[in-house]
Amino acid sequence: MSEDLIGKEILGQFRFVELMGRGGMGEVYKAEQPAMDRLVAIKLLHSKLAARPDLVSRFRREARAMSRLTHPNTVRVFLYGQLEDTGQLYIVMEYLNGVDLARITRKQGAMEMTRAIRIMIQVLGALEEAHTLGIVHRDLKPENIMLTTQGGIADFPKVLDFGLAKMREENPHPGSVALTQAGMVFGTPEFMSPEQARGETLDPRSDVYSVGVILYEMLTARLPFPRCKPMEYIAHHIQTPPIPISERQPDLNLPKALDHILGKALEKSRDERYQSAREFAEALRTLLPRSAQSTAFRALPAGGVPAPVKPSAPRASAGNAPGAAGRTSGKGLIIGLMCVIVVLLALVAFLLATGKREQAVVVPLNPVESQPRAAPGAP
Ligand SMILES: Nc1ncnc2c1ncn2[C@@H]1O[C@H](COP(=O)(O)OP(=O)(O)OP(=O)(O)O)[C@@H](O)[C@H]1O
Ligand SMILES: [Mg+2]
Repeated sequence: MSEDLIGKEILGQFRFVELMGRGGMGEVYKAEQPAMDRLVAIKLLHSKLAARPDLVSRFRREARAMSRLTHPNTVRVFLYGQLEDTGQLYIVMEYLNGVDLARITRKQGAMEMTRAIRIMIQVLGALEEAHTLGIVHRDLKPENIMLTTQGGIADFPKVLDFGLAKMREENPHPGSVALTQAGMVFGTPEFMSPEQARGETLDPRSDVYSVGVILYEMLTARLPFPRCKPMEYIAHHIQTPPIPISERQPDLNLPKALDHILGKALEKSRDERYQSAREFAEALRTLLPRSAQSTAFRALPAGGVPAPVKPSAPRASAGNAPGAAGRTSGKGLIIGLMCVIVVLLALVAFLLATGKREQAVVVPLNPVESQPRAAPGAP
């Protein structure tokens, strides 16, 4: 099937180039879109998923929600729907030239702390936006975080597969067959939260836990529980206290403060954890050297970050004006004020233009089924 597709065209605008990988739900292809002179990634879900009308409507709901995400650290979804001929569900997204975190840890072992924290603060920024829009990722694992270079910035993570795990989470028809291979209904045992392991309803704090496990693994190249078979991790998440990170790899000399921060992210009870991705990010930021703190902040969601234009600038000039107005003629004051306004407008325009450039990595398509992406700053 995968070989047959190479060179074929779909949706009148994409041509399959190569198979990039297979996951639990389907296959991901690199494809080209000649009209836009760019590459895209197309995820084709297993055809058996399309045979279930309940899953098809769930897919549409999730993909629609996903296409509303605008955070720069979230992969952009251009288009989604169902192929007319085979009925397969598809998602067309931004093609990422990078390496996923799983491969990096496997190849390079434990990652230096400042680097790992800066990466995960950005991931938490992407999650914060999704959580605000009511989307819980549900399947955070190193394979779903890709490290790319964007506009010359290295270690720029992109989070993939938001909400898609909902497709395989619960079985709306008790007694009907499991969707694919054994274990698929459970998600990914090594990174799942205790409440996920118990099959409970999930909220953003479940993602906080999974990020805790991912970061633990990045920093130590080990998981927070004694080595065991993947399915046994489910029991560990529910009942075993995590091994303090400073004890896991003592040679690494990780700071004691990390024990507290990761311990809190990995609390069994979600009420005891960081209550939001933002809160977790704030705690992690305290571990960064001062020089790295401001740059890490850039990737938090736009809605939660102070506006880029300093409010003090206009206030300062307005404050000067009345004093001056009392002593000078009206004409001189008006000319002076106009100069200040022109300079400020130019500054604001410059800041907006540079801010947009950072986000507008790829121009969206004319969506067939997906919602157009909200402009940055739109509600
Ligand atoms: N937008 C993309 N750009 C480039 N490569 C991608 C993109 N999306 C996925 N991939 C790659 O395609 C491969 C398969 O991804 P897929 O999501 O199907 O598998 P997975 O993440 O291992 O499992 P799961 O189905 O649980 O998410 C992975 O190696 C992934 O890095
Ligand atoms: Mg994936």
